[in-house]
Amino acid sequence: MNLSIELGLAHALSAATRTGLFQALLEAPGTAEALAHRAALSPRGTALLLDAMVAADLATRSDGGEFAPSDRARVWSDEIPRGVAAELALWHHLETFTRTGEPLLDMTGTSAERDAAYRGVVTSLKALWGDAAEALAARLPPAASVLDVGCGSGVWSLAMAARAPASQVTGLDLPAVLDAFRAEARARGLRATALPGDMHTAELGGPYARVVVANVLRLEAPHRARALLQRLAGAVAPGGELIVVDALVGGSPQREQERTVYALHLALRARGAEVHRESSIRAWLADAAFAHAEFIELSAASGAIGALRARREA
Ligand SMILES: C[S@@+](CC[C@H](N)C(=O)[O-])C[C@H]1O[C@@H](n2cnc3c(N)ncnc32)[C@H](O)[C@@H]1O
Repeated sequence: MNLSIELGLAHALSAATRTGLFQALLEAPGTAEALAHRAALSPRGTALLLDAMVAADLATRSDGGEFAPSDRARVWSDEIPRGVAAELALWHHLETFTRTGEPLLDMTGTSAERDAAYRGVVTSLKALWGDAAEALAARLPPAASVLDVGCGSGVWSLAMAARAPASQVTGLDLPAVLDAFRAEARARGLRATALPGDMHTAELGGPYARVVVANVLRLEAPHRARALLQRLAGAVAPGGELIVVDALVGGSPQREQERTVYALHLALRARGAEVHRESSIRAWLADAAFAHAEFIELSAASGAIGALRARREA
């Protein structure tokens, strides 16, 4: 696409969310005039912006001139973990971040800010990763015991347990976050153990047939991510496996775009976090005595994530 057009469409989306037009559309469809009135905007500006949104497949227009959100705009607004306004606030911080290197908020570290942030988002992450989690579970054999580290809602391990009800699942997360895991286990009718603690220091128990660490390594600086993998490797039983789900994929131009945009997004909200290269994670796994790791492709809809399955000799 022509760069000027790309820039214009990005700004159209930004303006639509900043002015409240996008939210007005999500609340109820309407003509350009009605939407302009509801969002207290100029009728001419609103009409032109809505046309651009239709062209970008962000909105639809009926024959009667009523605008509504497009399917992809609706899915986006439903799945976005912190909501549209917070998402925009994050991106508007990009200029300041580029100048100062300071994130807008910090989801890492040991602060109450971190606990509150995760508590708020893990249930939305379930919607974001749900299909990919089911696809991964379908690819793996049943495991007698699973430790899910930084489990959030347990979207990955509980999808595995749903296919292997005899499997004992343990979810490790910060105490403030574990309610989401308990609720999801209850909703699925599964028995699971919640293990509150810090993954860097908590007693892990086990050994486990499978240890899962999903969307967690990138919250850590490289030396801490490497040390965490070493630690988790110690909880894997002989013949067991360590599954890493993370922002692993790139390669095609589209996936490079997803990976690099994700890396920026992460930097805006987590100090010291880093999207690690797949080669680095493979090297850390090798250091933790996993000779080989199989790459498992996850569905494109899940964005730039993939899985590495590292098996321990029996
Ligand atoms: C991006 S979320 C991923 C959640 C889940 N694994 C998923 O893929 O949906 C990161 C998770 O790691 C947890 N977490 C972050 N730091 C942690 C720590 N030091 N100890 C335990 N859990 C931690 C967060 O509370 C959060 O649930």
